[in-house]
Amino acid sequence: MPNNINIIVLCAGKSSRMGLNIPKVTLTINGVSLIENTLKNLQKLNPEKIILVVGFKKNLVIEEVKKLKYKNIEFIEQKKLLGTGDAVKPAISKLNKKSQVIVLNGDTPFIEYKTLRNAIKKFINNKGDFLLTTSKPLNPSGYGRIIRNSKGNIVQIIEEKNCSIEDKKINEVNSGLYIFKKELLQSYIKKVKKNIKGEYYLTDLVEIFSKNKKNIISISSKNNNEFFNINSFDDLVRAHHIDNNIFFANCIRNNIKISDPSSVNISKSVKLGRNITIGPNVYIQGDSIISEDVNILGNCYIENSLVGKKTLIKPFVNILDSKIGSNCQIGPFSNIRPDTHLYDNIKIGNFVEIKKSKIRNNSKIPHLSYVGDTEMGSGVNIGAGSITCNYDGFDKHKTLIGDNVFIGSDTMMIAPIKIGKGATTGAGTILSGNLDDNSLGITRIKEKNIPNWKRKPKLKK
Ligand code: UD1
Ligand code: CA
Repeated sequence: MPNNINIIVLCAGKSSRMGLNIPKVTLTINGVSLIENTLKNLQKLNPEKIILVVGFKKNLVIEEVKKLKYKNIEFIEQKKLLGTGDAVKPAISKLNKKSQVIVLNGDTPFIEYKTLRNAIKKFINNKGDFLLTTSKPLNPSGYGRIIRNSKGNIVQIIEEKNCSIEDKKINEVNSGLYIFKKELLQSYIKKVKKNIKGEYYLTDLVEIFSKNKKNIISISSKNNNEFFNINSFDDLVRAHHIDNNIFFANCIRNNIKISDPSSVNISKSVKLGRNITIGPNVYIQGDSIISEDVNILGNCYIENSLVGKKTLIKPFVNILDSKIGSNCQIGPFSNIRPDTHLYDNIKIGNFVEIKKSKIRNNSKIPHLSYVGDTEMGSGVNIGAGSITCNYDGFDKHKTLIGDNVFIGSDTMMIAPIKIGKGATTGAGTILSGNLDDNSLGITRIKEKNIPNWKRKPKLKK
C-alpha cells in the first residue's frame, strides 16, 4: 500500500430523511456505530491521516470517534450543510501534498478492506485521475445513476432527484467511494456549481473531469451489501440483518456451529476461536474470549470472561468477569461470579456458586456448594452441600484449601480457615479451626437409635 493515503470521511449531514436529532453516523448496528464500522476498515489501509468532516451536532461525532483512540484522525467543520461537494472543501487544506485522496460517505459501514485495497491498486496502476466505485443493487432507487458514453466510459452521475424516467432504469449506481489526486481534487472542486436546491453535489465532479478529458476509472463490487448506505430507519433495520449475516458467514468459515442463530447474541468485542459449538439462547458479551473447541450447550450468559480450550459449558451457566481454564466442565446450573479463576480440568457441577476464588488444576466441586473468597489447591474434591462460610455479618474472610484435600459432604468451613494439604473432613463437619496437613477433621453429634419407633398417626381434619 502507498504510504501517502489521506482519507476524507463525510459525516456532517443532517440526516433530514430520518428526522433525527443526532448525527446519522452515530447510529449503531448491533451496538457499533456506523462511523466505528467505517473507521475500523479504513485503518487497515494504514493511512497517513483520516479527516472527518463534521457539522450537524459535531460534538457527538467527535466524542464517539475519540473513544476509539485512533491517533491519525483529524476533524474539520463544514459550517453550512450545502451538500457533499461543499463538505469536501474545508478538508482540502488539511491534505498532505502529493497524497492519494480517498473520499468516502460516512453512512456506508460495510465497505471491505479488500475493495479499498483493490481500488487504490487500480487507481495507481491505471494512472487514474479519478476513480469511482459502482454497484448494481437490486433496487437502485435513491442512488446516483452512472451514465456511460457509447465507448463505455463514465461521463456523468445523475442524482435520483434529477433522473428522468429513462435514467431511473439505469441500475449501475454510484457507491460513494472515490479516489483523487490531491491537486486535481483541489482545483476541480471549485468548478462544482450550486444547483437549484442551493447544494453542491460532489458527484458533479464526474462531468467536470470527463469534460477536461481526465482519466476516470471505476471498480465495481459484486457484493451489493458492501455499499449499502443508511438513509432511513428501514435501511438501519436491513443493516442489522446484513451485519448478522456477515457474522454468521464468518462463523461458518471458522467452523463455529451455532444451532439457532436467532437466539444467540454475541457482541462485537468478543473473540471466538475455531471449532466452537454454541447452542440456543447464549449471550456472550464484553471482552470475552472463547477459545478453540469450546462447547456451550445453551441458555448461558458469559460476560468479560475467558473460556479455555476444549471446555464444556452445560446449560444454564452464568459466568461473569472470570477466567476458566481448558478442559473444564461447568454446569448445568452453575454461577461463576466475578474474579473467579478456574485452572485446567476443573469440574463444577449443578447448583454451585463460586465467587472471587482460585481453584487449581483437577479439582472438583460437583454439587450444591458455595465457594467464596477461597484459594483452593489442585486435586481437591468438595463433597455435595459443602460451603465456605466467608461472611460473619460484618466482614468477608478467606478460606485456604491445600492440594488433594477431601471435603466430606455438607462440611461448613468457617472462615478465616486453613485446611492443610491431604486433609479430610467427615460428612456434616462444622470446621471452625485450622486443619493440619493429612489430618481428619470431624464433628459429629452422637447418633441415638430408638428401636420400634412409631410415628404419630396423622390426625384427620
Ligand atoms: C450520495 C451520492 C449518490 C450515491 C450515494 C451512495 C451525492 C450528491 N450523492 O447520495 O450519488 O449514490 O451517496 O451512498 O453525493 N454529508 C455531509 N455534508 C453535507 C451533506 C452530506 O457531510 O452537506 C455527508 C452525510 O453525512 C453522509 C454523506 O455525506 O455521510 C452522504 O450524504 P447523503 O445525503 O447520505 O447522500 P446520498 O443521498 O446517499
Ligand atoms: Ca447516503
